[in-house]
Amino acid sequence: MVKMLHFAWFGAPGAHYWNYPSAGIYDWRKGDLYMDMARLCERAFMDMVLFADIPAVPTTYGDSNDHYVKHGLEVHLDPAPILAMMGGATRHIGLGATLSTSLYPPFLLARMMGTLDHLTSGRSAWNVVTSASASAAQNFGQDALPEHDERYNIADEYLDLVRQLWESWAPDAVLEDRVKNVFADPSKVKPPHFAGKYFKSRGPLTVPALPQKHPVIIMAGTSKRGQEFAVANADMVIAHKNSVQDMRAYSTQLRAQLAAAGRDPASCKIFFSIKPVMGDTPAMAEERWAQNYAKANAESGLSYLSAMIGIDFSTFDQDQSLPPDLPVQGMVGKLLQYTQAKKDMTLREIAKHEGMHETFPICGTPEQVADIIEQTAAEGGADGFHFRVSVGDFQYLAEVTTKLMPILQRRGLARTSYAGTTLRENLFAF
Ligand SMILES: Cc1cc2nc3c(=O)[nH]c(=O)nc-3n(C[C@H](O)[C@H](O)[C@H](O)COP(=O)(O)O)c2cc1C
Repeated sequence: MVKMLHFAWFGAPGAHYWNYPSAGIYDWRKGDLYMDMARLCERAFMDMVLFADIPAVPTTYGDSNDHYVKHGLEVHLDPAPILAMMGGATRHIGLGATLSTSLYPPFLLARMMGTLDHLTSGRSAWNVVTSASASAAQNFGQDALPEHDERYNIADEYLDLVRQLWESWAPDAVLEDRVKNVFADPSKVKPPHFAGKYFKSRGPLTVPALPQKHPVIIMAGTSKRGQEFAVANADMVIAHKNSVQDMRAYSTQLRAQLAAAGRDPASCKIFFSIKPVMGDTPAMAEERWAQNYAKANAESGLSYLSAMIGIDFSTFDQDQSLPPDLPVQGMVGKLLQYTQAKKDMTLREIAKHEGMHETFPICGTPEQVADIIEQTAAEGGADGFHFRVSVGDFQYLAEVTTKLMPILQRRGLARTSYAGTTLRENLFAF
């Protein structure tokens, strides 16, 4: 039986792709791009648009900002205000922002996400990251990030606090009773007076109970500690995996961990990254793949990898593969991508791969791509996929939403209407 899948559009609202032909259609600094993007994704009945964020221009590669600035890498807008605009331009699609538990004060985040959930009538999502960027920590006044597993300990308490803030107003607290002149029942608004190991916050939130109770909680970490955090907190996970075997291993393990923790394994949706390259014929698709490969800037791929893993790869031997025991304080999951099924790739090949922003190579006509998506979902255990894109590449968005999504819909692999009103309802409708 065909399993209906979920789809998301994922990328950073930034300059990357500034020099590609289709980048000229919109200015990535202006709202039109994002509003039209949300409208197209909604017309294709995707679950959500989700923005990545790292609030820093890195310094990892070559110990300087220069390479990143020169090539427009990690130069991007703050995702949260954009979501508010996109929410005004749409009615159904979910809207997610990446925000860091190591950087944002919890009250600020709880209030901002609560506001977004109200503004969009329950369509907000938060991609919880613990951050891997030392430069980001320095931007926020810290000398360095806490170490990898400790960041997740902090994030656990952070989630506890923001949940208490979101629940500080009971759902029926607001009365707006004009006859009695009572806005809300004070007995139903309880300040958490939270005092933990890492955070203190009085509360209550200035924002009444959210339409979704909590925004949809997304999580992307695939380290052991990251997965434990996901099991405890996530409604949805997004992962980059380079092979169907790695997808299968990850989804099997995560569902077993969810069950062991007493959660329904279906209560956390598993998405994997894809970025199919399509053409009207197989030969045209292959030609585009070859063009993309030739155009991909390996040095940018290497600098991206450096920023994500937190190690300067500019001095590494590019003909060697990555050692699995590298002392990573950044994104362990990124290292795992190249030390599991694809462990024989050399750093040179990895750099090209990252330069293409490629994760799981798919290439073909839209019909062939639909076949691969269906097969990958079945074999890899996916509930859905997020297209990992450069948001300035509007031509690609048009191609996916008008050529690929209709095929998936005809085959019963993608929805043709929104069943619910909130993102959570739509995400868990099947
Ligand atoms: C699909 C995907 C998207 C991610 N987006 C972001 C992001 O926008 N900002 C960020 O700081 N980290 C991002 N990450 C990194 C994760 O939050 C996490 O730090 C990383 O996977 C390493 O976690 P781990 O060490 O637990 O594996 C992303 C990871 C994946 C797989």
